[in-house]
Amino acid sequence: MEFFIDTAEVDKIKELHDMGLVDGVTTNPSLIKKAGRDHEQTIKEISSFVKGPVSVEALSEDAEGMVKEAEEYVKWGHNIVVKIPMTPEGMKAVRKLAKKNIKTNVTLVFSPLQALIAAKAGATYVSPFIGRLDDIGHVGMDIIAQIRDIFDNYGYETKILAASIRHPTHVLDSALIGADVATVPPEILKKLFNHPLTEIGLKKFLEDAKQWKKE
Ligand code: G3P
Repeated sequence: MEFFIDTAEVDKIKELHDMGLVDGVTTNPSLIKKAGRDHEQTIKEISSFVKGPVSVEALSEDAEGMVKEAEEYVKWGHNIVVKIPMTPEGMKAVRKLAKKNIKTNVTLVFSPLQALIAAKAGATYVSPFIGRLDDIGHVGMDIIAQIRDIFDNYGYETKILAASIRHPTHVLDSALIGADVATVPPEILKKLFNHPLTEIGLKKFLEDAKQWKKE
């Protein structure tokens, strides 16, 4: 399973990159706003050291505008993937971009049928938002499983990118179901290291080693 980092904060991406945990990055307008920096400069900087895909969101509401934005974004780095919203105009744009070999990530996906439409349009990735479904009393993880089944039934190559991840269990369940990628906020990715038995075990080993360890 690939890990993408769901942030536009360069320092946080670098920290995880040094641990070999960054297979790609996803951004959106809210994450760019949170990072508080210029959109283009931020994406260019991320793209300069991250080898894998860096998702950048198109902001137009019509297909023509989205395609124009995408053509500009791909000049920002060798690994740009254009985020396109799950709308009829968005799907027109995805079809056109696929023909131009520009990779897309269909965002704001909340149902397996939306994911099927995106795959039929030729999306490179679909991003089901698990946490936001949980927030309204649905079981977000169910749609990851349904999308996996649908894509496997028909051999769609569109990758499932589990998004809106709020806690480590979302990552675990996505991996068990077979999502291709989880895009994870840095704070949550760091939590995956933790286990109290690791801490207790390490403390004991270090204490025992004091007997012979030279000062
Ligand atoms: O990449 C976008 C997605 O992960 C959003 O997450 O927490 O704003 O629902 P959230």
